[in-house]
Amino acid sequence: MYGSRYLTEQNNELQIDGVAVTELAKQYGTPLYVMAERELTDRLATVRDAFLKKYPNTYASFASKALTIGAVYQQVVRHGLGIDVVTGGELFIARKAGVPAERIYFHGSNKSTQDLQYAVKEGVGKIVIDHYGEIAQLNQIAGDTCQTVQVLIRIVPQVIGGAHTKIQTGGVDTKFGFSTHDDSYLQAVEAVLAAEHLVLLGIHCHVGSQIQEIELFERTARTMMGFVETIRERTSFVASEVNLGGGFGIAYTQDDQPLDFEQTMERVMAIIDEETTRLAIDRPRIGIEPGRWVVANAGTTLYTVGAIKEVQGVRTYLSVDGGMADNIRPALYGAVYETVIANRIKGETRHVTVVGAACESGDLVAESADLAEPVSGDTLAVFGTGAYNYSMASNYNQFLRPAVVFVNQGESREVVRRQTYADLIQCDLGLENIPSS
Ligand code: LLP
Repeated sequence: MYGSRYLTEQNNELQIDGVAVTELAKQYGTPLYVMAERELTDRLATVRDAFLKKYPNTYASFASKALTIGAVYQQVVRHGLGIDVVTGGELFIARKAGVPAERIYFHGSNKSTQDLQYAVKEGVGKIVIDHYGEIAQLNQIAGDTCQTVQVLIRIVPQVIGGAHTKIQTGGVDTKFGFSTHDDSYLQAVEAVLAAEHLVLLGIHCHVGSQIQEIELFERTARTMMGFVETIRERTSFVASEVNLGGGFGIAYTQDDQPLDFEQTMERVMAIIDEETTRLAIDRPRIGIEPGRWVVANAGTTLYTVGAIKEVQGVRTYLSVDGGMADNIRPALYGAVYETVIANRIKGETRHVTVVGAACESGDLVAESADLAEPVSGDTLAVFGTGAYNYSMASNYNQFLRPAVVFVNQGESREVVRRQTYADLIQCDLGLENIPSS
């Protein structure tokens, strides 16, 4: 049910791994992000067992932008995965959480000089170079500190995938990576090979996000091996590492049909093996970067139902005490989520539009929901919110960022506390010397 076996129904109420959701709402307040920790650790174990252990010379990095919190990073590392970061901020949190630097991949289409310096200083495992300027810049930074940096270059695979145009990255028209419809990527390879302080390991790509077609993963694998071949022909460099990126889709609603992770990797690795044989090379080290797939279905957001407004002949608005500040995805991508009244799952349903409390007409939680006899004070659960919700949350309208609670076999623990009003003004220098009235 609802994308995770840890979400169950007991006496017409929702439970998350043995804890009544109403209790969580009472204890920690709403809005609240709840993570079924075992859904997270089961998935990490699947990545470990069905990929890392099954295929030698592979690695997996959790795309930490999906859920950037210490408790997740710690589980990720415990399961043998590394972390992919895209800013100094993500790197800072990863290092604070104890992620070994060598297990970190640093991405980003426009990394700042400070970020590159920070990454080199920390000794991050690999830096994924995204554009020309970065080659000389990174070479210089590495040289200045007498270090050698291992790098991949990100290339455009010309494979387009992803559930929404805003999360497609693999086509020619993209800000990410070196173009492949001309010689840009080959020039990048030459430039990196010539850079004294950089060691080129191979190539990287990321096609898009929330992909549910196995054919796209297959095509990506084959295409990337094709680039390994062309690069060898044109530069005599043989890639020892190929990173296929993330993109594994999850079940948001009944309409989604996410791929089986193990089967997907079987197909991908079979293609890699075929291509390796064809090219008569050693199989490169193969990397993947799942983000959403690891955390999304573990997450449920709880809200308290407030105003219910019927616009005669039009629709009924049901307002909750959060919205776009804690989940921007419906507004940004038209994302659709499943929702229930957690304290009354079944009952006579009422068709409503669930909206948030921000001062925006576009603050949507669920455009169309059939909820059981909803009344003010009910707890509304929104499923599949573990990825790109907390990490994309804002303080718009000065809503406080909700707490994150992990639930595991009947126990709950807060892993991120709710923000306070004091947190809202921490950086506001203009408020510093004003005496309180
Ligand atoms: N690797 C790279 C280089 C990426 O850019 C991304 C995601 C991933 C891996 C992880 O992709 P995943 O496995 O999570 O699909 N905010 C959007 C998603 C943006 C994804 C950006 N890059 C959303 O809420 O749908």
